[in-house]
Amino acid sequence: MYALKASTDEPGARFARTSHAPEAFRHPIAVIESDHAQQLALCDVLDRLLHNPRHGATAEELEAARDYLRQDLPLHIADEEEDLFPLMRRRAAAGDDIEQMFQLLLQEHKTDRRLNDDLCSDVERLVGGQAFADPARFLMSAFTFAETQRRHLAWENTVVLMRARKCLTDTDRVELGRRMAERRGIAVPD
Ligand SMILES: [Fe+2]
Ligand SMILES: [Fe+2]
Repeated sequence: MYALKASTDEPGARFARTSHAPEAFRHPIAVIESDHAQQLALCDVLDRLLHNPRHGATAEELEAARDYLRQDLPLHIADEEEDLFPLMRRRAAAGDDIEQMFQLLLQEHKTDRRLNDDLCSDVERLVGGQAFADPARFLMSAFTFAETQRRHLAWENTVVLMRARKCLTDTDRVELGRRMAERRGIAVPD
């Protein structure tokens, strides 16, 4: 699987596409956390493009951003909706308020999907050196996506993943890692 590498900690650092090694899926929560770092880095690219759509990112970064939005983000959302959240529901204690939180996160995934279509086609135009069909649409989708995504990631990192680390059993983690790897056509080595 390819993804954006979060590399904006260093001044002047740029994105590069990296892949999760098959053995990384033995630690699926760490894979999700690393995907979150990549998504934060994607928000930084969008911020730069908001200020300077033509020169805010290099050609390589634009291609990586397009590929991340098109391929990696849908996989990540499926990891959470189809595997992580259901496993956590299974382990939730009676009276746990987890469902309300999941409903909010699922709603935000819907927003991501909706904005993603427009963002993909706008970033594709930047990759091809073409003008936007609707510049205002790009500004609105990039701004809304980055803003929603940052809040979403803060919740998932501080609440969801922390809880997942406490409540998932070893068997759950193996199942989660296997399913996430399978989704990407990867076999987890024994
Ligand atoms: Fe996430
Ligand atoms: Fe999410």
